[in-house]
Amino acid sequence: MSFSVAIDGPAGAGKGTIARYISEKFNLKHLDTGLLYREAARLVIEEGGNTLDVVRLEEIAQKVDTHHITEENLRTEEVASVASQIAVVPSLRRVLTQKMRDFSNDITLAYQGVVLDGRDVGTVILPQADVKIYVTADEQVRVLRRTKELESVAMQTVLEGIKARDARDGNRQTAPLQIADGAIILDTTFLSIEEACEKVAKIVMQGMSDILVKTKIS
Ligand code: DC
Repeated sequence: MSFSVAIDGPAGAGKGTIARYISEKFNLKHLDTGLLYREAARLVIEEGGNTLDVVRLEEIAQKVDTHHITEENLRTEEVASVASQIAVVPSLRRVLTQKMRDFSNDITLAYQGVVLDGRDVGTVILPQADVKIYVTADEQVRVLRRTKELESVAMQTVLEGIKARDARDGNRQTAPLQIADGAIILDTTFLSIEEACEKVAKIVMQGMSDILVKTKIS
């Protein structure tokens, strides 16, 4: 049996930290799907930054290696902004989505399953996920959290970046950020990250025992 958890939500809601926690606690292979978009963005920037050449964007997406992405240099506002811009391109999304599914299907016995976090995990990448969670938080709180993480970036710049990305990621035609069917919504505005992680751990635990019961009955 391979168990799958989909965690979606906007920037700064806490989904990355929660996904890492769940991955360790339940021994699930983890993929931060945003990193694939960020890696594609890094390659675009390296080439001179044409975000409109759709054919080239698809070629760049092919180059993204799911197993060898290093976070170094990907956590900048510039990369985040370009990632969100190129994420509207359907052909690039098709290639990256396939890579994410391949990653999810390639589970060795060392793991109980997978946890993916992003914007369209529960809606598009793994619509059959056993547990789907939509993590959200007030915009101001998300901006504060991101400003703390980025340290040297001014709060106003972070606010503008988050507003622009929320609008683009939520309103694009292909795979916009949406609450997936069957997703449990977790608002982390008034929760510490530890409290948020524990709440999600309980939901995952429940999901796992529901599956065990179903397996025993059938
Ligand atoms: O989660 P993040 O901030 O690292 O993601 C960067 C951008 O990548 C985000 O603004 C939109 C895009 N993205 C996406 O379109 N679909 C995903 N599943 C993950 C990220």
